[in-house]
Amino acid sequence: MREELFTPVKIGNKTAPNRIGINAMEGCDADEQGNPGPRTYERYEKLFDGGSGFINLEAITAQYDNISRVHQLSIMPRNLEGLSKFVKHLRTINNDVVFVFQLTHSGEISHPTLSKRIRVTEEPLYGYEDARLIGEDEVKTIMDQLVLAAKIAHDAGADGVDLKFCHGYLGSQILRPFNRHNWKYGGSWERRRQYAFDLTERVIREVNDPDFLVGSKVSIFEGFPGGQGSAGPDSSVMDLSESIDLIKGLEERGAKYIIQSAGSPSHTLALSQADRHIPDHAYFHHYFQKVCRDNLKKETVVIGSAYSIFRNGKGTNFQAVSPEKNSIRFWGNKNIREGVTDLICLGRQSFADPYVAKKILEGRENEIKWCTACDNCIEFLIRQENVGCSTYNPPYTKRMQEIRAEKGNLREKHT
Ligand SMILES: Cc1cc2nc3c(=O)[nH]c(=O)nc-3n(C[C@H](O)[C@H](O)[C@H](O)COP(=O)(O)O)c2cc1C
Ligand code: SF4
Repeated sequence: MREELFTPVKIGNKTAPNRIGINAMEGCDADEQGNPGPRTYERYEKLFDGGSGFINLEAITAQYDNISRVHQLSIMPRNLEGLSKFVKHLRTINNDVVFVFQLTHSGEISHPTLSKRIRVTEEPLYGYEDARLIGEDEVKTIMDQLVLAAKIAHDAGADGVDLKFCHGYLGSQILRPFNRHNWKYGGSWERRRQYAFDLTERVIREVNDPDFLVGSKVSIFEGFPGGQGSAGPDSSVMDLSESIDLIKGLEERGAKYIIQSAGSPSHTLALSQADRHIPDHAYFHHYFQKVCRDNLKKETVVIGSAYSIFRNGKGTNFQAVSPEKNSIRFWGNKNIREGVTDLICLGRQSFADPYVAKKILEGRENEIKWCTACDNCIEFLIRQENVGCSTYNPPYTKRMQEIRAEKGNLREKHT
């Protein structure tokens, strides 16, 4: 019998040839114009050769005024040529991958010195008091930029877009209960959710191609008071009713897939990417995936995150379960079989070994370079460096040694 992970899955009018996907992973290695640079090419060439059925291009910005990272990829009219060349090239390596672009805006978590922080909440979130309050008109401009970006993604040859509503970026900032004051997209849940609904409807209408996939990565629970999936602006209690209503509303408007996530790397990093000291958070993601699966139509594809920590079941700090029943392969197959998720997406593991899918599919698991969850890759990102795996990719190993010698250890894991 074929394993569930090896079977194809239909996403809208496209078909992913297998159910091992690659999660969005910012590499911060674009050129001066925000086009894919040599290191971006190298990363995605390997991923396209690596056997995955679905790849989510890392967070790409539709403007450069409010960004979190220097050398972030951008998607503006000036990038159409560079992105088209990039997609065309990657498709010569593998034309079967379903390839979507993750469209983002950083809002209040933009970098305060290399960029400008803006916020939508009258009361700033703790730690982001320096963000400038923007109004409806500026939010409308941002939506215009994201819609234009979706059209550029379409024209560049992407299969679709991921309108990002996760990880504390602008989409999360608008959706979360902490956005409590009344304005067009603030106050009641009906107003907050309307941002995501309006954006999804506009992208679908204005791209106007039934084959073009629109979906979203969503933090089902951000894990702090007032965050997505909490019971109120000051409440730490988990209440998933808004997250459930969100994904159902997105589906109603035409979203073809939901990438489940949780946490916000700027606030609750160990929830968004399970920490090696507390790996068990990864199991919460299974519950959030099941909540998505149970509340969406069969044809809407649920893509689950946070599987890297399971590795081959060995070398982890999990208790109460045997290694052979705790690997990526085990949980991927079981969760698909039991209706928890339809596809799994790998983040850090794809940096550690971009060929991970091919090696699993070809039964060469013993050749896989397993991610150690050391989180040095997120340290590169925090330090505004090109991002890669310092454990297995020599230029990044060398760079991490230099950084540590120059600057010492990172004081805070805070993106
Ligand atoms: C270096 C790095 C960059 C990331 N960049 C993105 C990103 O661009 N967009 C996004 O939604 N998530 C991003 N993530 C989060 C991952 O996509 C994923 O949700 C998270 O790492 C959990 O999956 P894992 O346990 O397989 O790593 C990033 C994570 C890391 C470590
Ligand atoms: S740097 Fe560490 S956490 Fe990041 S991919 Fe490599 S092994 Fe995994």
